[in-house]
Formats: sequence, structure tokens, C-alpha cells
Amino acid sequence: MCQYCGCRDMPLLRDYTAEHERAVNLGGDAVRAMDAGDLARAAGLARALADELRTHWQGEENGLFAELLASDDMFADYIAPLVAEHRDLDAFLRTMDFSAPADRESFRGAVFDLHEHIAKEEDALFPASVTTLDGDQWDAAIAAWQRAHPGERMLGS
Ligand SMILES: [Fe+2]
Ligand SMILES: [Fe+2]
Repeated sequence: MCQYCGCRDMPLLRDYTAEHERAVNLGGDAVRAMDAGDLARAAGLARALADELRTHWQGEENGLFAELLASDDMFADYIAPLVAEHRDLDAFLRTMDFSAPADRESFRGAVFDLHEHIAKEEDALFPASVTTLDGDQWDAAIAAWQRAHPGERMLGS
């Protein structure tokens, strides 16, 4: 998350960023378990990663992304590839098998790519949202987050 624009202070962006951190940690732990030869632990961590990401994607796509797209067409070219990356990673995580060496290498690559994906959101889209969305749009984006995380409370709320 950038240091300059105030996006650290937006509650929804804090939650998205905390979800990114959890995903990065789960992915890193899964790779380390895989490299240590503990494939059962790696598979469990990858399942936890997939669960974390699926609710995160739902909150992001139906919340921040939808509101940005409604604000300005110029976001479409930036957001479409991010959504495609969500679907590609989801499909891979559903089908991958840690017992297959090629899948293990693909998993390593996917965790690496996830860092870049997150950077594109935190360094560009999140700061842009601070200057783009109005109060009603933040409320709508937060409502989408809540639908994606039933029964959970946002950080600091
Ligand atoms: Fe994303
Ligand atoms: Fe994200």
C-alpha cells in the first residue's frame, strides 16, 4: 500500500491489504512445506490459500472493482487483466496436485505471480480509488465486502 495518498486510512483498503498479507503468508508457507517434502502440509496450506483468495476476490470484484468500473471507463483496461488473473489462479488451485512435479513448479510460479498481482492493486488501483470513489460508492464497496465475509467484522470496526 502506498505511503502517500491516505489509502492506508481507508478501512476497506486496510482489510483488502490484510487479506493480501494472509494470502502471501499462506502461499509462502505452502512453498516452504513443499520444499521440505511435506506435501500433505503444503496441500492443506494451498487449500487455506484458495479459501482466503476466493472470499477476497469476491469482495474485491463486487466491491472496489465494480465501483471503479462504474466511475470511469478508463479502469476497464486495468481491471480486466486482474480479474482474469483471479480466474486463472482459481482454476489452477482447483486442479493442481502436489504429487505432480510440474504442478509443484507451477505452484511456485503462481505464488511468485501473486506478489506482482497484489502490487498492481496496492500501488495503483487502491490509491486511485481514494481520489475516485465518493461516499456512497465506498458504502457499496463495503457492503460487497460484507456479503463476501458473512458474520465477519471489518478491521477496526
Ligand atoms: Fe486481485
Ligand atoms: Fe487483491
